[in-house]
Amino acid sequence: MSDAPSVSMSATLAADEALDTRRRAGEQVLAMAGGEIGLPVLPALRRRLAAAADENAYGPVSGSRALRAAAAGYWGRRGLATDPGLVVAGPGSKPLLFALLLAIGGDVVVPVPSWVSYAAQARLAGARPVPVPIAAGRGGVPDPELLRAAVTAARSAGRDPRCVVVTLPDNPTGAVAPPDTVRRLAAVARELDLVVVSDEIYCDLVYDTSLPVESPARHAPERTVVTTGLTKNLAVGGWRTGVARLPDSGPGRLLHGRLVSVASQIWSSPPAPVQAAAAYAFGEPPEITERVAASRRLHESVVRAVAGRLTDAGALLGPVRATCYLYPDFEPLRDRLARIHDVHGGADLVRFLVERHGVGVLPASAFGEPGDPLRIRVATSRLYGEDDERRTAALMAPDPLELPWIHRNLEQFGAALADLTGARTARP
Ligand SMILES: Cc1ncc(COP(=O)(O)O)c(C=O)c1O
Repeated sequence: MSDAPSVSMSATLAADEALDTRRRAGEQVLAMAGGEIGLPVLPALRRRLAAAADENAYGPVSGSRALRAAAAGYWGRRGLATDPGLVVAGPGSKPLLFALLLAIGGDVVVPVPSWVSYAAQARLAGARPVPVPIAAGRGGVPDPELLRAAVTAARSAGRDPRCVVVTLPDNPTGAVAPPDTVRRLAAVARELDLVVVSDEIYCDLVYDTSLPVESPARHAPERTVVTTGLTKNLAVGGWRTGVARLPDSGPGRLLHGRLVSVASQIWSSPPAPVQAAAAYAFGEPPEITERVAASRRLHESVVRAVAGRLTDAGALLGPVRATCYLYPDFEPLRDRLARIHDVHGGADLVRFLVERHGVGVLPASAFGEPGDPLRIRVATSRLYGEDDERRTAALMAPDPLELPWIHRNLEQFGAALADLTGARTARP
């Protein structure tokens, strides 16, 4: 095993499991580390899954015709005309992303910061990540000029970067890269002959729906693969379903063939009953779009409340326009945190918040930030209630912040911050 690629447990999943252990031990924890969406399954979606429980055959490797047609329609409604023959469905967008990296080969450009799994998956695929910073406020998309410089330098050093991953909207920052950055990124990718892998799993969770997400697939259609799934929109992470849209070009068709071959060797086919439910969901009947809109509104109000507490505490925070994530920077408090709590970096911040207050968050280093900046990622998606009754009430509430359990969660978070900054002492 000594030459096996090094791999560690996904930081989000590891943090969630550690928090669950604390919860089982009787601690009152606030799970703000992982991106699990704590909302109930929409009943109509559950019925579709149940009705398909007898579908026990593997089915086509790339997914059922119905699901691929529904996904093509979904993208078509977002301005990306799609051939269902170029859609590949899989058991989650995460395995699809990994299979894509295997199918593309070569090294992988990853933005810094970016979702915990891109760099890890690149290493697992035997590639080396090429990290490229994101300019402030341009969440998810590496700075196009720095991309050019990094790829040119990597190639001169004998490396072989073949693709760049972007996240639109972004995890961890909750930002949405401006259209101009996306356009320039696409142009540089074309100039450098890179495949663009555009992870758009959060594209329906932009708070202001008049600001649609600009996909690089508009600007470099011949080389952009788009992935998405239902985990975030409809809170069905455990069902494992995702889809990829391959480029309609010669190289895109070759890549499609390779992706399907990789899929055939790893997961054979996506789970059949889940595909039936997913086909219905990607068809976007009114009850689905209403549910996605309700969860978007809920994320927005709780994110705004958490953002207010963070900035009141003195943290820096860029504008959050989508998702359920915030990425506060505690650098302005560096001297104070070192003096009063011996907290010097993100890892110390995480330890302080979980050990003194049961608040689970992730350090910025989990998102590829070099060193150990005094920065964390905070997710709001598990604050909405402990059971389906409360979570449904949260989805329907005109003002979710008035619900007592959400109020309590925000108070617990605020108290932890107040203790951290020395504004108040720890709860007894
Ligand atoms: C940016 C991003 N991409 C992909 C995924 C994976 O989603 P899934 O495999 O459930 O489709 C996540 C989940 O947290 C994510 O945050």
